[in-house]
Amino acid sequence: MSLLITSSRSVLRQVKSYSVFQCPAIHEGNLSSVLRTLYRQSSTFCVGLPCCRSSCWSWQCDLQSSRHIGLWSSHQNTPTLKTVTDVAKFIKERATNVLVMVGAGISTPSGIPDFRTPGTGLYDNLQKYNLPYPEAIFDIHFFMMDPRPFFALAQDLYPGVNYKPNVVHHFLRLLYEEEKLQMVYTQNIDGLERLAGIPDTKLMEAHGTFATASCTLCGKMHNSNKVKQAIIEGDIPMCEATNCKGKVKPDIVFFGENLPPSFWDYHQHIHFTDLLLIIGTSLEVYPFAGIADAVGTQTPRVLINLNAVGSLGRRTTDVILTGDLEESVHSLVRELGWEEKLKALEKVYESKQINEE
Ligand code: APR
Ligand code: ZN
Repeated sequence: MSLLITSSRSVLRQVKSYSVFQCPAIHEGNLSSVLRTLYRQSSTFCVGLPCCRSSCWSWQCDLQSSRHIGLWSSHQNTPTLKTVTDVAKFIKERATNVLVMVGAGISTPSGIPDFRTPGTGLYDNLQKYNLPYPEAIFDIHFFMMDPRPFFALAQDLYPGVNYKPNVVHHFLRLLYEEEKLQMVYTQNIDGLERLAGIPDTKLMEAHGTFATASCTLCGKMHNSNKVKQAIIEGDIPMCEATNCKGKVKPDIVFFGENLPPSFWDYHQHIHFTDLLLIIGTSLEVYPFAGIADAVGTQTPRVLINLNAVGSLGRRTTDVILTGDLEESVHSLVRELGWEEKLKALEKVYESKQINEE
């Protein structure tokens, strides 16, 4: 569940605008005594705390659960965003915790097909592998029976060999450099977010990554470069542990496998998210897609996608920017006035690539 309030100091560390906790209403009693009163008074409704500033901050305490939890959100001045100009203004002037959810759509401008776009999506182009159904290529049980289709696909898709980040990835890096980025939650396994410079601390690769590799039987970690070499040469990497006959695969999460435990930290993050940005995903696959519905109803959700997906559009605070996502991101960058910064970032990336060659 959400924030466990163990001591006011731990809360204050997480709370972005400390000024809320300096307002007189809180100062009479220190924060922990105020919290105790709140717990006594409140059940599952919102307790407004009069604040010295115009904005009102509220606590939602749910005593039903066995643990005291606190949901801390502003509920008075929820922004009404309608256009890309509104979104840019909000990001520029107010947001400091933009949570970003991305999917395969953001890699299509880099030349990597997504999964479900009719005709071009990967799942429409796997005939040569003779699969019982398209998703079998990422199904752990099917892999254990026959790993060849996956390794043949991995040979085509291996990150960093044929593909590079595009404007969307560089925009995410820019959000980070402007100290607006809370986290990037990605479903993509192509590693382009990493290549664009999103640091580990700001990146959750929910469906795993090619950056590491391990044995599917004993779990032994293997050198990912050696595994990459074997895959690119068309071999099936086998486990190096004695007496283990396991196949080694990159640590991408197959259907039937668990997501990384830290994926679930989003339950903490979302209470401090002031804008959710969803780019290039069909929101078809759970539990990843569940983040979109978990953010507070007062948190603006902005979808940048060919068309509306998931529950986007059902909340008054939703903004849907349909059409080509590269164009939508370019227009957002323009409205933010970050075009020069983006160009500079792309130049740095290109020069780094040239130096590494
Ligand atoms: N402009 C705008 N939207 C685009 C573009 C584009 N250039 N290219 C693709 N899209 C949109 C598609 O219309 C679609 O809505 O991006 C979305 C991609 O959806 P999917 O192909 O389903 O990819 P994704 O959502 O990442 O899939 C989720 O499914 O099979 C699993 O593990 C796999 O992580 C993957 C998960
Ligand atoms: Zn093994």
